[in-house]
Formats: sequence, structure tokens, C-alpha cells
Amino acid sequence: MTYIYAVANQKGGVGKTTSCICLSAALAERGKRALLVDLDPQGGLTTALGFDPDSFDTTIYTVLIGDEVPLDKAIIESKTDNVDFVPANLDLAGAEGELLGEIGWDRTLKVALKPVQQNYDYIFLDCPPSLGVLTTNALIAAQRVIIPVQTEYLAMRGLKQLTKVLSKVRRKGNPNLTAKVLRTLHQSRTIHASEASEELETVLGDEIYKTIIHRTIKFAEASVAGEPLLSYLPESKGAKAYRELATEVLKDG
Ligand SMILES: Nc1ncnc2c1ncn2[C@@H]1O[C@H](COP(=O)(O)OP(=O)(O)OP(=O)(O)O)[C@@H](O)[C@H]1O
Ligand SMILES: [Mg+2]
Repeated sequence: MTYIYAVANQKGGVGKTTSCICLSAALAERGKRALLVDLDPQGGLTTALGFDPDSFDTTIYTVLIGDEVPLDKAIIESKTDNVDFVPANLDLAGAEGELLGEIGWDRTLKVALKPVQQNYDYIFLDCPPSLGVLTTNALIAAQRVIIPVQTEYLAMRGLKQLTKVLSKVRRKGNPNLTAKVLRTLHQSRTIHASEASEELETVLGDEIYKTIIHRTIKFAEASVAGEPLLSYLPESKGAKAYRELATEVLKDG
């Protein structure tokens, strides 16, 4: 059984990419095989894994558009055992317009994943910070969505828009899609963050992970080093938090 997760939030810089990388590393420590798919034209995932986006000719763009190269041809081994990824670069910026003209444009990623998905226990689709064609493709391909949200009131407002999109995706083709919020960039010392965090828990009930990811500069340091915080600083609080999150994800099935 393969579980496909979209990691999505139209707000930028909330920890989508970091969560894909750290969660897959934590699951790999538990013996699971994971595939990460970079769906951001900025190539944030590719870069944070320590690779140069421009060094790849075959990327998620060549899989989704035009040549329709089989996805297995685009898979690269990351530096973490049992974690592979599909890179992206700026070529993908043109994908939105190009895909829209195609038949079944919103199912393109789902179809591309089919032949490889049985090789993995978990697939994480790292969405760009928008609710466009690429994020829609991820939401159609996924069984579950992780929504990283910064614990502050303004960030919570953006959740409503995403929730509406999720309802539409469920109505129009992916009825069993489930979603859970992940609190990130949490500053436990501020009252505002603590209140926002509690409010999210009250409103969302079971649709929120118990694990809270605190704000720490260590995440940025790890991404500059091009490796997951879990191997860069295995005993750090941040690494431990993503291991806790992996336990929750494993429990979900
Ligand atoms: N818990 C955290 N504490 C502090 N910094 C963090 C945390 N999580 C991520 N970061 C840092 O914040 C920046 C943005 O994180 P990340 O790239 O994961 O967000 P994103 O949602 O993928 O952004 P984008 O929308 O641009 O793709 C990065 O520099 C990352 O290292
Ligand atoms: Mg990102």
C-alpha cells in the first residue's frame, strides 16, 4: 500500500518543503521508502536536498508536459537512504498554461505516478505557494493533504480559501481526500502564537496533528547544507519533532 500526500498551502514560506524533506527522512529511519516530488518552479525541494535545479534535463516538467517522459526516468536518489526525489526547475513555470490545454490536465500527475508508486510506501508532493494547475494536480493525485500553517491569526485566515478548494476537489473527482493541518514556525514564547495554536486545535479537532513544529534557525542551516535536519543535527528539537510527526503519520495507516 502506497500513501500519497500532497503538502500544500498557497501561503509561501510556511514549511511545506521542509516538512516533505524532514518527514520523509523520519519515515526512512523507520524503514519506509519515500518519493518526493518537487512541484515548485523555484525548485525549493531540489535545492534544499543539495542539488542544483539547473543541472537536470529530465524533471517533473518533462514528465508532465510535451514528451511525457515516464516518471521513473526522472527519479534521483537523494543523500538519504530510501528517499528518492523528482527534481523541478524554472521550466515548470510554463507548465500551468501548457497543461491547461491538454485533455485530463488535472489528472496528469496521478497518471504519471501510477507505474512507480508501488515502489514506495510514501509519496510526498511538494506544492508551490499557489492554488493553480500544479497544486490541483497534486490534490487530485493525493489521498491525503498535509497543510503546514504558521501559528498566527493571519495565516489561519488563508486556510478558509484552501478548505474551499479541497471541497471542490472532493466534489469533482477525489471524494476520499482527507486533510490535516500541521502547526509550523511556532514561537512558543509569544502569547499570540499560543492562542492561535489552541484556537486551531479547537476548531479543527481531529483534523490537526498533535505535533507542533517550533521555529528554529537550525532548519535553514540544514537546508543550506543540503540535507535534512534529521541527519544534519539528529538530536535537535526540530529533528525530534518530525520523528514525532512520522509516528502520527504511521498511525494514520
Ligand atoms: N520550523 C521552522 N523554523 C524556522 N525556520 C523554518 C522552519 N521550517 C522551515 N523553515 C525555514 O523557512 C524557510 C521556508 O521554509 P520552506 O521552504 O520549507 O517553506 P515552503 O512553504 O516550502 O516555502 P515556499 O512556499 O516558498 O515553497 C526556509 O528557509 C526553511 O529553512
Ligand atoms: Mg517550498
